[in-house]
Amino acid sequence: MKAVEYTEYGSPDVLRVVDVDRPEPGPDEVLVAVRAVSVNGSDWEGLTGRPAYARLGGLRRPRRRVLGSDVAGTVVAVGADVTTFAPGDDVYADLLDRLGCFAEHVCAPARSFAPLPDGMSFVEASAVPQAGVIALRGIVDRGRVRAGQRVLVNGAGGGAGAYAVQLAVLAGAEVTAVDTAHKADHLRSLGAVRVLDHRVDDWTRTGPYDLVLDLACYRSVGAIARGVAPGGTYLVVGGAVRSLLQVLLLGPLVGLAGRKRLRVLAVPLGVRHVGPLVDLLQAGAVRTVVDRTFPLEQTAEALRRHGSGRSVGKVVVTVDPT
Ligand SMILES: NC(=O)c1ccc[n+]([C@@H]2O[C@H](COP(=O)([O-])OP(=O)(O)OC[C@H]3O[C@@H](n4cnc5c(N)ncnc54)[C@H](OP(=O)(O)O)[C@@H]3O)[C@@H](O)[C@H]2O)c1
Repeated sequence: MKAVEYTEYGSPDVLRVVDVDRPEPGPDEVLVAVRAVSVNGSDWEGLTGRPAYARLGGLRRPRRRVLGSDVAGTVVAVGADVTTFAPGDDVYADLLDRLGCFAEHVCAPARSFAPLPDGMSFVEASAVPQAGVIALRGIVDRGRVRAGQRVLVNGAGGGAGAYAVQLAVLAGAEVTAVDTAHKADHLRSLGAVRVLDHRVDDWTRTGPYDLVLDLACYRSVGAIARGVAPGGTYLVVGGAVRSLLQVLLLGPLVGLAGRKRLRVLAVPLGVRHVGPLVDLLQAGAVRTVVDRTFPLEQTAEALRRHGSGRSVGKVVVTVDPT
């Protein structure tokens, strides 16, 4: 089968389309013919090896040669102990713990997969897992956004940000979205009432906000605290290691005076956590914006598009059924 490999960190130029053996499912695994894989911020980080946490699995060289975690496809074989799926079932999953989805087939434990949600295309379903869990966790479960609150989403134009903006708007919040300037129309169309350009505006001086969900944190914990209202919450999901460590180690102390909760948000893995978002997508209350799709052979172009900052919405790699 075809897979898209890399053996060193770098630009999309290091990716190669290669022929590899098709994996065989173990007793508790299913083999899935991949139909769509969405590109996440974590794929770009895994490709470039930046920020430093992207090298946790391999300091000098990537430990896993094939990227791609958020996948939708069709089961083609199941292991001896699998009773939940059968060949022909359409499924989706978040395989961030093992990757390997930029390929014609992927093998993983059956428990990682869920049936493809009714009415959802492979492309749309592949866009949901990781981005959806981050947004649900940040806005609903931990953020507990309520009507009338001032919410800021930093990095709002990416996969997780687009869902986060919509979930906060649905909850009745007044949403400020921060990203690069050319995504302003897109962010307003998702319901943001105010859009900031991170290259020009300093969100820590435009608030304060009751909740900040930060998907691209490059600030000091002192600056962050300034942007959060007394009694408010700041949750960081990704960004520079230095900033994440500051929030992790100093956040509880720095926030103490203003009763501000400054925390790193740990996000659980797996599509079993995206149920409430899937319901909203199926009801048409939230939408997935897809920027472009690319065939598997052009995975490098897909990552280039994501990393260029030009994409508006999700970039998705597709595989035609053979
Ligand atoms: N904590 C956890 O458990 C966990 C789990 C999974 C993923 N993550 C992390 O979650 C993060 C977000 O994921 P994602 O898939 O939504 O990423 P994404 O699709 O790449 O979106 C990131 C967005 O942030 C924008 N951006 C870049 N630099 C910025 C800055 N300085 N200020 C404001 N916005 C900026 C990007 O704009 P441009 O495209 O113009 O650069 C892009 O629109 C990633 O860092 C990922 O590693 C964390």
